[in-house]
Amino acid sequence: MASARRRGTPAAVAADAVALADQRLSGASPSPGLVGAAAMEVHGVSKAFVDPHGHQLLALVNVDLAIETGTFVSLIGPSGCGKSTLLRIMGGLDQPSTGQLRAPAVTGGSGGGGARSAFVFQDYGLMPWLTVLDNVAFGLKMARVGKTERRERARAWLARVGLSGFERAYPEQLSGGMRQRLSLARAFVTEPDVLFMDEPMGAVDPQTRLLLQEDLLRIWEETRKTVVLVTHSLDEALLLGDRVVVMTARPGRVKLDLPVDLDRPRTVATTGGPAFAALRNTLWGALRDEVARSMEFS
Ligand SMILES: Nc1ncnc2c1ncn2[C@@H]1O[C@H](COP(=O)(O)OP(=O)(O)OP(=O)(O)O)[C@@H](O)[C@H]1O
Ligand SMILES: [Mg+2]
Repeated sequence: MASARRRGTPAAVAADAVALADQRLSGASPSPGLVGAAAMEVHGVSKAFVDPHGHQLLALVNVDLAIETGTFVSLIGPSGCGKSTLLRIMGGLDQPSTGQLRAPAVTGGSGGGGARSAFVFQDYGLMPWLTVLDNVAFGLKMARVGKTERRERARAWLARVGLSGFERAYPEQLSGGMRQRLSLARAFVTEPDVLFMDEPMGAVDPQTRLLLQEDLLRIWEETRKTVVLVTHSLDEALLLGDRVVVMTARPGRVKLDLPVDLDRPRTVATTGGPAFAALRNTLWGALRDEVARSMEFS
């Protein structure tokens, strides 16, 4: 009885599916070993949900990933393959069904009013009733930073993202690109050790997106935070990342972990070079089948 009950749990479904997926994906590249100086590691992580019909839905299976401190890792994969789920687990917002998360940079204590991690989502995560300045200063207020200091720090970050002069505006008075800059300032101002970004530039037009990518490149070069970025754009993943992790169709696991050996500082012009084109081909080679599989065309 007990084992029958256990059989129905998300953890048991995840464990059963690991063996199945292991067989099916035996051609996949091995995940990198779990190395030292990692800001976070997930090991053997699987995640099962219950779908609206009450059936078990396996989102992730047996994911191993180590992210070294100070690196920028891009995560790419077909829609619904579990990228956001993995990001939430790495950020401590959700629990795996099986497997472990070791994330000292995220879960450890913090001093000096700094947050350990921050999130940037596609919907900006802004508070519409607060001014631009107060939106940026909000995280510092929560960390009990004094009013004068938090306003100073917020102003400095608004300047860095090109929003000086808009301090008293409200988010609804900004364009999509400006809102996204604001959400970047809001994330960076608390000086988090790790930044999790889930398609942060998915909602802006292509030209604004290029400018935002350059902003993010510049800010990252200056701060060298540990960043995990979920994106659907191959170019964005390669332009920004030190590594691009490709996930399989659902249930998601690591298919390819591609080092991006391009010199920094990079600019959007970097995407025009032959080395970039070769990396893009490799990436698409790994991703194509998974996208097709996720759409049930294969
Ligand atoms: N809270 C939840 N309850 C039930 N199912 C969920 C939940 N969160 C995610 N899922 C399911 O898990 C699977 C993976 O979802 P996830 O959002 O992680 O995918 P994704 O790779 O981020 O997709 P996209 O690229 O479209 O954002 C999907 O099938 C989704 O329906
Ligand atoms: Mg998602």
